[in-house]
Amino acid sequence: MNLADSAFLRACRRQPVPHTPVWYMRQAGRALPEYHKVRAGVPMLTACATPDLIVEITMQPVRRYGVDAAIFFSDIVVPLKAIGIDLDIKPGVGPVVADPIRDAKDLDALRPLEPDDVSYVTEAIEALTGELGGTPLIGFAGAPFTLGSYLIEGGPSKNHDKTKAMMYGAPELWHTLMERLTGIVLEHLRIQIAAGASAVQLFDSWVGAIPAEDYREFILPHTRRIFEGVAGVPRIHFGVGTGELLGVLGEAGADVVGVDWRVPLDEAVRRVGPGKALQGNLDPALLLAPWEVVERKALDVLRRGRAAEGHVFNLGHGVLPSTDPDQLKRLTDLVHEAA
Ligand code: CP3
Repeated sequence: MNLADSAFLRACRRQPVPHTPVWYMRQAGRALPEYHKVRAGVPMLTACATPDLIVEITMQPVRRYGVDAAIFFSDIVVPLKAIGIDLDIKPGVGPVVADPIRDAKDLDALRPLEPDDVSYVTEAIEALTGELGGTPLIGFAGAPFTLGSYLIEGGPSKNHDKTKAMMYGAPELWHTLMERLTGIVLEHLRIQIAAGASAVQLFDSWVGAIPAEDYREFILPHTRRIFEGVAGVPRIHFGVGTGELLGVLGEAGADVVGVDWRVPLDEAVRRVGPGKALQGNLDPALLLAPWEVVERKALDVLRRGRAAEGHVFNLGHGVLPSTDPDQLKRLTDLVHEAA
């Protein structure tokens, strides 16, 4: 099948689809026994720099579930590691940064990203587009706010207190940091598109911590620049806890706005405004409940999703590691077979 005719790309463009397309954030990874098998003894960031492993892990959920899109196996901190930031991904914790960014001189560490820094990304995507055939590949990057939070806090944070202290207390430094990260993110997305990614998703996982008015002042100009810079392929914008931000996220320029499980999709349509497709939004924790519950809730998501100009079925956040892959297989089939 022609890539451009895939249900996923058509839904992103708000065109009629033969069935609602479905993929899952974090579909590649710890819920899959075949993932544990190939990752055994290989540190996360080593896996992310090894083309053979990237290709295999990206393909695993496509083979098992028959999802409508693949997402490139990597992590949001990979381009930061690639420009020489001293960081690691600690199992069960997340990204940890050795020398957090706190003042202007720390910004020197953030040099621009060059294609050669991530040649393994280009190599893996070129191999993947061959293997995937008619299934689109989604490239991705972390958004400047979420990346900035890891860099400023030095690791995962509940309150993002140091991040907010810089944003509100040193706005000039904040905007310079956001500009540097925007340049890196933009280049990283362009590299993935040049290598063959058919769509891109910007993960602003932690931006739900910021009120809309402050998003507009401190973050929107930067996310706008990113989406303007990658026009040409469908662009997806995702964050968690963004119910109050859906309107302003709609202004940032993406084609598709991701919605977490807190806001029903028909209500999200109203908040995001016209001219957008929506992606979401089954609660990933629901997959731990009996199938009958999953089925009822998934059909409700599909029903409400019909209010959107385009709907890409997904979870409201990533697949939890304890998820039974058989539930995701049944869910994929349900979405494909639903009228
Ligand atoms: O299938 C896919 O979605 C593609 C792979 C992917 C990973 N990370 C693999 C991964 C993607 C898209 C990401 C993005 C990412 N990384 C985000 C945005 C998405 C989100 O969940 O909000 C964020 C915030 C990160 C930072 C990060 N990296 C966290 C919080 C963790 C989990 C730490 C843990 O162990 O609980 C990671 C590590 C990570 N990234 C793993 C995987 C498969 C687990 C590491 C492992 O398997 O050893």
